[in-house]
Amino acid sequence: MKLLDDSINVDSQVWDRLRKLEDRVIELFPKGDPSHDLLHLKRVLKTALFLAAIERGELEILIPAVLLHDIVQVPKNSPNRSAASEMAALKASEILEPLGWSNDDIQKIAQAVLEHSYSRGLTATSLESAILQDSDRLDALGAIGIMRMVACGTLMGTPFYEDSIDVFSKNTYEDRKYIIDHVFTKLIRLPDLMNFQWSKAEALKRFEFMKHFLRQLRAETQQSPLQSEKDAMRNLS
Ligand SMILES: [Fe+2]
Ligand SMILES: [Fe+2]
Repeated sequence: MKLLDDSINVDSQVWDRLRKLEDRVIELFPKGDPSHDLLHLKRVLKTALFLAAIERGELEILIPAVLLHDIVQVPKNSPNRSAASEMAALKASEILEPLGWSNDDIQKIAQAVLEHSYSRGLTATSLESAILQDSDRLDALGAIGIMRMVACGTLMGTPFYEDSIDVFSKNTYEDRKYIIDHVFTKLIRLPDLMNFQWSKAEALKRFEFMKHFLRQLRAETQQSPLQSEKDAMRNLS
């Protein structure tokens, strides 16, 4: 699989370095988790390039930050989870040094990698870091967000939902116990955390789709078929 497509507009020297970096990332990227794989990188990159075109982000910083942001992965249920982005930032610097990036640029890239993490709760200190944050967080929402959330929970053996409880009206949400609780412990906050207007609008759209999915899930799992039918009739009238 290729991560970079030929339409990326950078000078030939930068392009050369990016190609080498792409090969390294494909070689080193952790395997076995479909919620954090090369397809995730491709999607985040696509959104990041779109945002960079609007906001005039510097591609020489942004593209390496995207490619390297998840180069170290720590399981979600590990106590070291919040150290993952710090380790990724260190590893990013190690990978970039022999490929010809300047020290100044490496520092900016590593800082963006560090700041992308939701669990660390850092504010983005550069335009490129803000673009990476939004692009990565958008990939947690919408149809792909549902697939990633389920994939991630399944890896840890977490059940999909709490039996006989309406997910919209629970008192406490625990995503370590029930996968769909993740929508209410984290994903619901993402639209407000977006750095750019476009990402916020897109996040709200994707979150609306997730709510629609949850309503359908509730109808299929929590209500009697008769009740679901009554609700459906009411919605039609
Ligand atoms: Fe990450
Ligand atoms: Fe990511």
